[in-house]
Amino acid sequence: MGMTPILEVREISHTYHQKDRITKALDQVSLRLMPGSILGIVGESGSGKSTLIRHIACLEKPDGGKLLYRGNEYTGRTPAFAGQFMQMIFQDAYGSFDPKMRFDRSVREARWEEDDPALLAELLKKVRLDESFLQRYPRSVSGGQCQRLSIVRAVYSGARILLCDEATSALDVASQAMVIDLLKELQRDYGISMIFVSHDLGVVSQLCDEVIVMRSGRCVEQGDCLGVISHPRDPYTRELLDAVMEVGEETGIHHAAEAQNEISVYPGIPVI
Ligand SMILES: Nc1ncnc2c1ncn2[C@@H]1O[C@H](COP(=O)(O)OP(=O)(O)OP(=O)(O)O)[C@@H](O)[C@H]1O
Ligand SMILES: [Mg+2]
Repeated sequence: MGMTPILEVREISHTYHQKDRITKALDQVSLRLMPGSILGIVGESGSGKSTLIRHIACLEKPDGGKLLYRGNEYTGRTPAFAGQFMQMIFQDAYGSFDPKMRFDRSVREARWEEDDPALLAELLKKVRLDESFLQRYPRSVSGGQCQRLSIVRAVYSGARILLCDEATSALDVASQAMVIDLLKELQRDYGISMIFVSHDLGVVSQLCDEVIVMRSGRCVEQGDCLGVISHPRDPYTRELLDAVMEVGEETGIHHAAEAQNEISVYPGIPVI
C-alpha cells in the first residue's frame, strides 16, 4: 500500500452565482498532497486557484466533491476545524493581522496547544527576526518581515499544512528569496507540507516538488515540477512558459525551460 496523502481533494466543483452571472470556478478538481511535500498551483488569473484554496480551508461550500485530511473526510466542516491542521499565508501579510494587536498576542492566540516559548524562539531565529519584533504592531514592520511573522504564526499554531496564496508576490526579490528559503527549511526541518499558489513559474520551479496547472476551473496538467516545466504536455502549459520567456527576453532573464536543470528566473537566486 502506498503512503496516505496528508491532503486529498476529490472532484471539487464550485459555481459562483451572481445576479446576472454564473461562474463555474472549479470543475471537478482533484489533487493529492503527500506528507512533507510542496505542491505548486499555477494558472492564469481567474483560473480558480484561490477558490480551490478557499475550499481546502473550508471557507466555501462545494457543489460536490470531497476533502480528506490524512484519509479522513472533513468536507463541510468549519474554517476553525480546518485551522487545526492548516493555515493560509496570503499575499497581503498586513491584512492577515489585526492592526491593533502586537505580534506577540496574534501569534500566541493562533496556537491550539499549550504555549511553547522555546519553539517560538526557534521559529523567530529561523526567520531571522529578533524576539523584540513580537512587541511591535503590524504597521511598524516591513512587508517582508510581516510575511515572515505570518509564517511564524502559522507554524506555531501547530498547522501541518501551509496554504500559500501568492505569498511572495508582493515582496521584492530579496524578501522573496528569503521567504522561499524559509519555506524550504520548514519543509526540511519540520516536515511541513505546502500548497503554493503562484503565477510565477520561476518561483514554483525553485520551491515545489510537484505542480498542477489550472485553466478555467480545471486541472490541465499535473506532475513532477521539473518534468512539467521542461517537457510540458499540455498546450496551455506551453503558453504559460512562453509568457515567462517573453518577460525573460525583455529583461534578459532566462526562459524557465531553456535547460532542464538550470531554472533561474531571477539572476542571483540559486538554482534548485
Ligand atoms: N466571490 C465571488 N463571486 C463571484 N465570482 C467570483 C468570486 N470569487 C471569484 N470569482 C470568479 O471565479 C473565478 C475564479 O476566481 P479565483 O479568484 O479563484 O481565480 P485565481 O486563479 O485565484 O485568480 P488570480 O490569479 O487573479 O488570483 C473567476 O472567474 C472569478 O471572477
Ligand atoms: Mg487568486
